[in-house]
Amino acid sequence: MRQKLVVGNWKMHGSRASVADLLDKIVAAMPAAAPGVAVCPSYVHLSQAIQLCAGSAVAVGGQDCSHMQSGAYTGEVSAQMLADLGCRWVIIGHSERRQYHSESDSLVAAKLGAAMAAGLQVIVCVGETREQRESGEAEAVVASQLRGALDGQANLAGLVVAYEPVWAIGTGLTASPDQAQAMHAFIRGCLAGVAGIDADATRVLYGGSVKAGNAAELFARQDIDGALVGGAALDAGDFLAIVGAAQA
Ligand code: 13P
Repeated sequence: MRQKLVVGNWKMHGSRASVADLLDKIVAAMPAAAPGVAVCPSYVHLSQAIQLCAGSAVAVGGQDCSHMQSGAYTGEVSAQMLADLGCRWVIIGHSERRQYHSESDSLVAAKLGAAMAAGLQVIVCVGETREQRESGEAEAVVASQLRGALDGQANLAGLVVAYEPVWAIGTGLTASPDQAQAMHAFIRGCLAGVAGIDADATRVLYGGSVKAGNAAELFARQDIDGALVGGAALDAGDFLAIVGAAQA
């Protein structure tokens, strides 16, 4: 039985005041028997978030990390720095990193290795564009992103995969539960062929316009083990409703 996991990816949103307000509400209302819950604010708000979540069931993670351990890499933040600060999680290979920062599969793989070596729990994101889905390439794209990130890794313990179809991110277009379930089952099949992974025990999250109103039907599907939530994670009531749906 895989424990459900709900992760809020706050992207480049927030201020010290809004972070305090959001986390005060989320922490205060977190159900006692909550599923796994984490929030991923921007780097500059991590320290504040870690303090506000201390002693609660809400873990904190980064939205990215460097592939390098340390050195003259201006603007970069290492996985070790995140772990040292008290982060438990890190998101790697988000489509917005791939799109706006030209992150290749090999860079994603290097980041994943660095994050694992630092002892972080890694969420690696995969997903096809609308054009790729319409031309029937969705599975091939996802399989290739998985191979690119996972092949040859020394350690994949506790890895979480997030399936985030690019066409569903921030668009209000959610993959239907059938579409998501089919791709999640496909991903689990791909994971079964990767050394060092127990595919049955690996959580596969869905991301892309997850809302309070559609979370329950997604979570009811066999291979959907939770969500990576963008916009709806910025509203305490919406995020808590999604957490509640994962608990049900
Ligand atoms: P939205 O929930 O805003 O579509 O974002 C999804 C996402 O990219 C989470 O990482």
